[in-house]
Amino acid sequence: MENAPIPVSLFPEMGFIDRKFPQPQYLGAKYIHRDWIRRFIPDDIHVVLDAFSGSQSIAYLFKQLGLQTLTNDFLRFNGMIGKALIENGTEILTSDDIAILRGGNHDPEEYNLMGTLFSGLFFNDADASFLDSLRSNIALLDNEYKQALCFAIINRAMTRKVTMGHFAHKQALVYAADAARVKRNPNLVRPVSDIFIELVNEYNAAVFDNGTECRAYSEDILTLLPELKGIDLVYFDPPYCNSHADYQSFYHLLETFTMYWKDKQFINGTKRYSPKRYSGFDIKSCVLTNFNKLFENSVDIPYWLISYNDRSFPDIDTFVGIISKFRKVDIEKKIYGNSRGGKGSVAGSHEVLLICKPY
Ligand SMILES: C[S@@+](CC[C@H](N)C(=O)[O-])C[C@H]1O[C@@H](n2cnc3c(N)ncnc32)[C@H](O)[C@@H]1O
Repeated sequence: MENAPIPVSLFPEMGFIDRKFPQPQYLGAKYIHRDWIRRFIPDDIHVVLDAFSGSQSIAYLFKQLGLQTLTNDFLRFNGMIGKALIENGTEILTSDDIAILRGGNHDPEEYNLMGTLFSGLFFNDADASFLDSLRSNIALLDNEYKQALCFAIINRAMTRKVTMGHFAHKQALVYAADAARVKRNPNLVRPVSDIFIELVNEYNAAVFDNGTECRAYSEDILTLLPELKGIDLVYFDPPYCNSHADYQSFYHLLETFTMYWKDKQFINGTKRYSPKRYSGFDIKSCVLTNFNKLFENSVDIPYWLISYNDRSFPDIDTFVGIISKFRKVDIEKKIYGNSRGGKGSVAGSHEVLLICKPY
């Protein structure tokens, strides 16, 4: 395969690049690869879509580069980060807002889900009660951007507090009682309210307006794509089927907190909601069909950048074969020296970026 990369981007420094994205803790986040990915963004584009945006780390890079950034993830808690840090250009949380949020539970009959489900499992009673109380007050904030910022911050505070930063295990309180683990990560025993307050400045400082109309969506990408027009580049970072692809098992608690469902079942030892949202990219039986649909729906978008991993299903050759029906593909690889990249980032495996252009 001919290896002719798109010319390296020569974006003018616009002052946004110094903005700091709050470091995520999300399986498969590409935060640590953002400088590498940036090298393959062509310089003749204006409108970009991050189609499977997760923590929003790459959408944020696009926004920093002054591009009109559309971002999407089908999980609502990720969509909140998109509203807060991509679509939002001006709204921050003030000390008055914080006072509203800490004002006590204004409807304990309605707002008790975290206590009911997760007290004694992921949180002690005091933390669960704070979470319900804060949740009861989010709607009292002035607008959807302040509300989204609050969701982004409190959800991040919860992942900091829980060992391994996800909710697919039942060891959170066991580990919080383990002195050696607490020494390594004091957040395990800090009140979640303290972690929340500590993060506010960092998130406020990450809010900026890049002068374009950025938009955040929270939909199944196969439903959303046909509705979008005028996109120059799409970035696809789908779940790596075969390797930690079930985001709803890892982060169910954040989605439950955000949606505050009363009409779901909560199952397994972790109290994961059921039924799950339909992804279409997390199980082998439907992923090939859905990749074909994804690419058919993207034919009007000239450039595609696709993150992949050589431990995923389908294997890279098969995957490139599918894409080659639509685009000319160049393959870039980066080897993992350790396992800090999260999902799929086993030492010796490769992070892959497929650079796809029209024939
Ligand atoms: C590998 S992660 C993306 C990580 C992201 N690039 C980052 O830096 O944080 C894949 C994401 O795809 C999302 N996802 C899975 N199925 C989806 C679908 N049908 N439509 C939109 N998003 C989906 C998951 O919620 C997950 O956040």
